[in-house]
Amino acid sequence: MVDSFSTWQRPRGLFERYWQEQLRGERMILVAHDRGLVVGYTTLIWQSGYEYFRIRRIPEIVDLNVIELYQHQGVGTALLQAVEQHAVQHGKIMIGISVVQSAEYAAANRLYPYLGYLPDGRGITPYDHELHLIKDLT
Ligand SMILES: CC(C)(COP(=O)(O)OP(=O)(O)OC[C@H]1O[C@@H](n2cnc3c(N)ncnc32)[C@H](O)[C@@H]1OP(=O)(O)O)[C@@H](O)C(=O)NCCC(=O)NCCS
Repeated sequence: MVDSFSTWQRPRGLFERYWQEQLRGERMILVAHDRGLVVGYTTLIWQSGYEYFRIRRIPEIVDLNVIELYQHQGVGTALLQAVEQHAVQHGKIMIGISVVQSAEYAAANRLYPYLGYLPDGRGITPYDHELHLIKDLT
């Protein structure tokens, strides 16, 4: 993961923190790979930092990334579908995701509604300029 995302401002310490959080049961990491090469990953946290999700116990998908060479081949979709299944297996009926409202995140902003994620209706949080979306897993 460190090697695959070395140019993405994803330092080793971030992945080590994710790993420690997974060991504590706070986060689940999903990795997409092609014959040993890590091509993408995402994580699911059970307790969101976003109050609307946290109060409703809606787990949040955090940090979804696919390396450029493997984008637009369904890897992001596969990671999202796998993380949704994981949430269902843990008895969750809703799942959330947040995305910065800028051109840099155009692909994500198009992909999430396409896969059934709807805005929570509470607007963009001013401190991080993120739109928050929810998917009904039932
Ligand atoms: C957002 C991101 C994770 C999507 O990953 P991805 O693997 O490219 O996702 P998918 O291939 O499943 O879908 C992305 C696009 O490819 C299309 N697509 C899916 N399968 C496809 C296929 N077999 N052939 C062609 N296009 C396909 C989707 O319709 C979508 O197109 P659109 O956005 O123009 O509607 C990736 O672009 C990324 O890492 N971006 C940078 C980081 C980022 O923005 N992360 C999200 C932060 S919230």
